[in-house]
Amino acid sequence: MGFLEIFGAFVLLYNLFYLLIPLFLDCDMLLALKEKFGKPADSLAGKVIWIIGASSGIGEHTAYELANAGCKLVLSARRDDLLQKVKENCLADNKKNVTEKDILVLSFNIRDSDLHQKMFDKVLSEFGKLDILVHNAGRSQRAIWENIDLKVDRDAFDLNVFSLINLSRVVLKYFLAQGGGHFAINSSLAGILGAPFSGSYTGSKHALHGYFESLRTEKFGKNIAITMICPGPIQTDFLRESFTEKAGEKFGEETQVSAKKMSSKRCAELISIALANQLNEVWISFYPALLFAYLKFYPNLNMIILHLLGPRFIQKIRDSKVTVKE
Ligand SMILES: *[C@@H]1O[C@H](CO)[C@@H](O)[C@H](O)[C@H]1NC(C)=O
Ligand SMILES: *[C@@H]1O[C@H](CO)[C@@H](O)[C@H](O)[C@H]1NC(C)=O
Ligand SMILES: *[C@@H]1O[C@H](CO)[C@@H](O)[C@H](O)[C@H]1NC(C)=O
Repeated sequence: MGFLEIFGAFVLLYNLFYLLIPLFLDCDMLLALKEKFGKPADSLAGKVIWIIGASSGIGEHTAYELANAGCKLVLSARRDDLLQKVKENCLADNKKNVTEKDILVLSFNIRDSDLHQKMFDKVLSEFGKLDILVHNAGRSQRAIWENIDLKVDRDAFDLNVFSLINLSRVVLKYFLAQGGGHFAINSSLAGILGAPFSGSYTGSKHALHGYFESLRTEKFGKNIAITMICPGPIQTDFLRESFTEKAGEKFGEETQVSAKKMSSKRCAELISIALANQLNEVWISFYPALLFAYLKFYPNLNMIILHLLGPRFIQKIRDSKVTVKE
C-alpha cells in the first residue's frame, strides 16, 4: 500500500470511529474520558457554587451531586419552599459532611435584574467568595415557527438570555478582580443544532453560545473558565412550563418518561465532572441525539440525514411523541 492508501484508510477509520463511538456513550468523548481518567467531582470540595434554577430537574440534581462532593452551595430559584426541600435532601444524604451552614437558600426571580447585585452581595457576605456560577434557569418551548408571537420571543430571551447575562456581568467584575472564576451555562443540544418546533427557545440557546464564546476569547489569559453544557433529551418535567406561540401561555403537557431519555441524576453526575475539569463545551445525551451533534462536523451528510428523517422524527426523539401537530 502506498502512502495515499494508508492515509485514506486512516481518515476512513477516524471518521467511522467518531460516528460509531456515540452509540456506546451518553456524552461526548472528552467528557467520557475525563470521567474515567480526569479529576473527580470530589476535587471541587470546599468550592462555593451558586446554582440558579436549583429547585427542580437538572439544577436540583446538580445540587445533590455537588453537596456530595463537599461543595458549599447557594441555591436560587423563584420558589423558596422547593429550594428548602432541595436543601434538606442535600443535608440528609451526603458523603462529605456538608452541614446546614454550607448551604444558603436564596430565592428570587432571576428576571428581577435589579436584584442581581443585592443577591450576589448576600452570597459574598455568607461565604466570603464565589468560585462557580451555574446557570440553569430557563423554559423550553413547543410552537409552530410562523405562528409565534414576537412577545414570546422577547419573553424567552428575557428569561433564558438577558437575565442571565445581566447577572453574569455583575459576577464577572468580581471574578476579574479576584483573578479568575468559572461560569457554567445550561445550554442544550438545541443550542448547537436546530430543534424543530422550538424557534424562540433554540434562538435563545444559540444566543447564549454567542455571548459566552465572545467572552471566552475576550478574556483569554484572565483565568475565566466557561463550560457550555448541552444536554439532549433529559427526564425533567420541562414541557409543562414550556413557552408556546402565545404570550403568557404555558404548554402544560406532562413530559413522557422514556428509557431513551437520560435521568436528571446521570446528567448531573456528568455536569459535576465537566465542572471539575473545566471543560469548554460538553454534550450530554444518548444516541441518536448525540450522533447529531457529531454529524455537525459533516455538514453535507448532516443535512441529507436530517432531511430524510424529517421534523416529526426529531420531535419524537425530544419528546418521545409528537407534541406539536402541523
Ligand atoms: C462531620 O462534622 C462533625 C461536626 O462538625 C465533625 O465532628 C466530624 O468530625 C465530621 N466528620 C467528617 C468525616 O469530616
Ligand atoms: C443589571 O444588574 C444591575 C445590578 O444588580 C442592576 O442595577 C441593573 O438594573 C440590571 N439591569 C437591568 C437592565 O435590569
Ligand atoms: C437544560 O438543558 C436541558 C436540555 O436541553 C433542558 O431540557 C432543560 O430545560 C434546560 N434547563 C433549563 C432550565 O433551561
